[in-house]
Amino acid sequence: MPFPQSFLDELTARCDIVDVVGSYVHLTKKGANLFGLCPFHSEKTGSFSVSPDKQIYYCFGCKRGGGVVNFIMEEENLSFPDAVRFLAKRVNLEVPEEDGDREAGRRRQRLLDLNREAARFYYRMLQQPEGRAVQDYLDRRQIRKATAVNFGLGASLDRWDALITAMTRMGYTKAELLSAGLAVQNKNGGIYDKFRSRLMFPVIDVRGDVVAFGGRVLDKSEPKYMNSSETPVYSKRRELYALNLAKKSKRPNIILCEGNIDVVTLHQAGFDNAVASMGTALTQEQTRLLSRYTKELVLCYDNDNAGKVATERALQILNNSEFSVRVLQLPNRRMEDGTMGKQDADDFIKNFGPGAFERLLSGSENGVEFRLAQTAGKYDLTDDRQRLAYAEEVSALLAGLESPVERDIYTVRAAEAAKLTPEAMKLEVQRAFKRRLGREKRTQERRDLNPAAELQPRERAMHYTNVRSAMAEEGVIRLLLLDDSLFPPAPPLREEDFSSPLLGRVFSLLWEQRAQGGVPRLTALAAVLTGQEMSHITSVCQKPESAANRPQALADYIAVIRREAEKRAGAGADPLAAVTEKIREQKLNKQKHNDGGTQHG
Ligand code: GTP
Ligand code: MN
Repeated sequence: MPFPQSFLDELTARCDIVDVVGSYVHLTKKGANLFGLCPFHSEKTGSFSVSPDKQIYYCFGCKRGGGVVNFIMEEENLSFPDAVRFLAKRVNLEVPEEDGDREAGRRRQRLLDLNREAARFYYRMLQQPEGRAVQDYLDRRQIRKATAVNFGLGASLDRWDALITAMTRMGYTKAELLSAGLAVQNKNGGIYDKFRSRLMFPVIDVRGDVVAFGGRVLDKSEPKYMNSSETPVYSKRRELYALNLAKKSKRPNIILCEGNIDVVTLHQAGFDNAVASMGTALTQEQTRLLSRYTKELVLCYDNDNAGKVATERALQILNNSEFSVRVLQLPNRRMEDGTMGKQDADDFIKNFGPGAFERLLSGSENGVEFRLAQTAGKYDLTDDRQRLAYAEEVSALLAGLESPVERDIYTVRAAEAAKLTPEAMKLEVQRAFKRRLGREKRTQERRDLNPAAELQPRERAMHYTNVRSAMAEEGVIRLLLLDDSLFPPAPPLREEDFSSPLLGRVFSLLWEQRAQGGVPRLTALAAVLTGQEMSHITSVCQKPESAANRPQALADYIAVIRREAEKRAGAGADPLAAVTEKIREQKLNKQKHNDGGTQHG
């Protein structure tokens, strides 16, 4: 299954990380490294670095990193073998495919083919008499034929095996239907169609592959929607419904809404830039995907409570991003009984028409305005006490804004809303701003005081149980990756000597690579490590390491690891020793803490 080491060496030699990353991210040279805006999280100042020497990238903000293959895996949403193939194509290098890889690639393609055939099947059923109920539903929702065709809408039938029968007839196996999430298995091992009696929405990715389905009931029954489960070709965090269409829109922005029906109605009304995340809050992966196509997002969630919460969460994700974000607020609808009811984009277009929506769109507020209005809505601003509470909450919000100009503008606006003088409001905001700075300073100090916490990997599962040993283990890995001439003739340590299972595994993997005659590199590790593990190893590599007397440094690290391993072995044999050792460590830690405290305090 793995690619030959020599091939990966050749590939990494030809794919310079600066060229590859540089074709996605604008990089500027700063010292030995290059910096740019991180493509993996939203930021305004560049904390994303590329090291030409080490051939790694690392983001000091989101702490993601890796080699050139990782970068392509993350950026192009590909598996390790596919990312390798992608890069090989880029530099015109022939990929030595082994049967196993060909097999995996073939299975993936089969799943995509099966999904496409299923979409065709549902589509055909919609045109048949059996699909009448779904067609009636589309008519009721005023979805026109051309729109249904554009989205490839379909009908799943009121039968247990309609799709299974059609697909097995075409040569697909039951296992394939299960793995595509189109069929479900019952306790007795029998299988049946997952989607039945539903309006079917195929989910098509930006490459044009059908990767999943959403199915809506035709009445008020529950669950309203069934969406495909995660499959080898579908991860809901990484897809947006209708982005395949919206990416071609001539409009300057992309509208994010909640429901599939909203998207369909909006496109039909001429807003062909609408997409939806299917029943999940907006994810970081989705914003990355969006950033390929637009710099301006309009949030248009339902105007009920859930929609407001979703808007707030999306604003948090997009906070300080390079996107300009606006919130389109749908007005409440007066119901027949006089109460105010929920309204979504679909309702609004049907009630007021595309022109009215266009006006809402051009007048939509930015995120700060939305939050101010939300806060104002919570208080009765004619009541003095509530005005005070409002001023307090709003000033905390305004103090969070980075730009002083923005802070100023909205402070005045918030004062107007509460009929306070701008001066009074400004004072309040200044106070909140000082509190914020104080808080940030304290957090930073706490970090400085407790460096041990900073040394820990971000992910709990990788936490070091013995920081002293782990620092030496990191050093060994870093040195070996930095300079392969440092490899001793035989492994100086066993995997069990490592206190961190991850670092031990990486050590073994490096030796394996070496045994195969290759130059041990981060790149090949990407095949076996998770993205998080890879990021952590990259962070280990990018820590500074003195260039002076590296063989001695390596020997020192090894000695520390051996000593700690022996202590562990000894402690295992004598339970009392283990306890004593633990108490000693705790004392040491405390002492360190206190020392730090007096220094800073
Ligand atoms: P209507 O306006 O009621 O016709 O539906 P809609 O298409 O606008 O969807 P809605 O706003 O109710 O829901 C938003 C999205 O959440 C849908 O597109 C689904 O992807 C998802 N969703 C809604 N209900 C369910 C459910 O019961 N189960 C799951 N898994 N997802 C749901
Ligand atoms: Mn809706």
